[in-house]
Amino acid sequence: MYTETARTDRTRRQRGRPSPPPRRRRNLGHRILGSGLIEALAAPHGADRYLELVRPGWSVRELRAEVTAVHHPAPDSVTLTLRPNHLWRGHEPGQFVRCTVEIDGVRRARCYSPASSAHRSDGMLELTARAHPEGLVSRFLHEHAAPGMVVGLEPAAGDFVLSAERPDRLALISGGSGITPVMSMLRTLIEEDHRGEIAFLHYARNPDRVPYARELAQIAVQAPGVNVAFAYTRGARGGGPQGARGNGLAGHFSLDHLSAIAPELAATEIYVCGPAGLIDAVRAACNPERVHSESFVPPALTLDARDAAGAVSFARSGIDAPNSGATLLEQAEAAGLKPAHGCRMGICHTCTCRKLAGGVRNVVTGEISSTEDEDIQICVSVPAGSVALDL
Ligand SMILES: Cc1cc2nc3c(=O)[nH]c(=O)nc-3n(C[C@H](O)[C@H](O)[C@H](O)COP(=O)(O)OP(=O)(O)OC[C@H]3O[C@@H](n4cnc5c(N)ncnc54)[C@H](O)[C@@H]3O)c2cc1C
Ligand code: FES
Repeated sequence: MYTETARTDRTRRQRGRPSPPPRRRRNLGHRILGSGLIEALAAPHGADRYLELVRPGWSVRELRAEVTAVHHPAPDSVTLTLRPNHLWRGHEPGQFVRCTVEIDGVRRARCYSPASSAHRSDGMLELTARAHPEGLVSRFLHEHAAPGMVVGLEPAAGDFVLSAERPDRLALISGGSGITPVMSMLRTLIEEDHRGEIAFLHYARNPDRVPYARELAQIAVQAPGVNVAFAYTRGARGGGPQGARGNGLAGHFSLDHLSAIAPELAATEIYVCGPAGLIDAVRAACNPERVHSESFVPPALTLDARDAAGAVSFARSGIDAPNSGATLLEQAEAAGLKPAHGCRMGICHTCTCRKLAGGVRNVVTGEISSTEDEDIQICVSVPAGSVALDL
């Protein structure tokens, strides 16, 4: 939450010169645990097996985090406060982490964007997931996450980040669960004592589905230069806190909504995260060169029936299958393989795999590559004829 204490701390930071994300120092204990000596003494199980008995989140080599608190900021959302172990190196506002949970004995990984400030002094990380009605991991977290649960993490990644030289004027626009990375940006900027103008515009179906509503209302009242507005796309009139400029917004994105809270729009850097429709509308209405965007939903893939020719060879597994024309990730799964993956949309690089021979088409960019021995993202690659993978 935005508090007076936080404001006092922020005044120590120089405006426009963000401090780097907090790095956990490797203390002597971590260095000893990480040394080969302890691993040798703990053989054959390895040090982690013993550390887990003391504290589940501890690990010498694996980045993990322990859930310390769980709450539901909206009926369909869950917020986890995580204490990452010493391997965590922080995040930049807007980045995502790949988070692994074990469900019925199977490890499942999904990407989540921390909503917490990059400068959070207690080193905690906050993730908010919206439970999708058919979703495996988001529903599991919504229904079963509890303090003490341990999740696997990977280092923060992603290019949807605030520029290092913070813009004077920003618009942070989000739709649905896309609120998390822009919330991190807003919280980070406030901690940096940003003195410019920030317009925060969030789209939700109705007032019940706005996580962080109370905190945002408080920020709008207390933080100079921050305007907050909510717009509801299903019926109810939206708005911001009492008396705020953006009160009374309804329907999908329009330039009027943004202009109501960001008067100097031409000089405003815009960060938008949400469904493709919201991003397209923002790009169409504003200077696209100033628009930075991210979507959590995979893009519509342009599959071509003519690609369904030849064969796919999963060389390491010794499996050959006729090329169905689907993405190589889907074809591998159809062949009974379980390749690592995260976003399934070409963002996280988790599915990167060595292509040994043959051509592939990137279904997002349309580019065809026939280079032998190259790394490809199999979630967005379809074979262009026969192809062999090191999988
Ligand atoms: C970079 C990045 C950051 C992300 N950050 C967040 C975050 O902070 N908070 C958050 O809630 N989610 C976030 N996501 C989405 C998240 O990774 C999962 O996709 C989401 O939680 C659904 O996973 P699941 O296992 O519940 O659904 P799955 O079992 O994988 O899918 C079930 C069904 O839900 C549909 N579906 C999956 N994701 C979405 C979606 N986002 N919108 C609409 N339909 C969907 C699928 O098409 C499928 O039909 C992020 C995704 C990416 C790529
Ligand atoms: S699964 Fe994320 S890039 Fe392929």
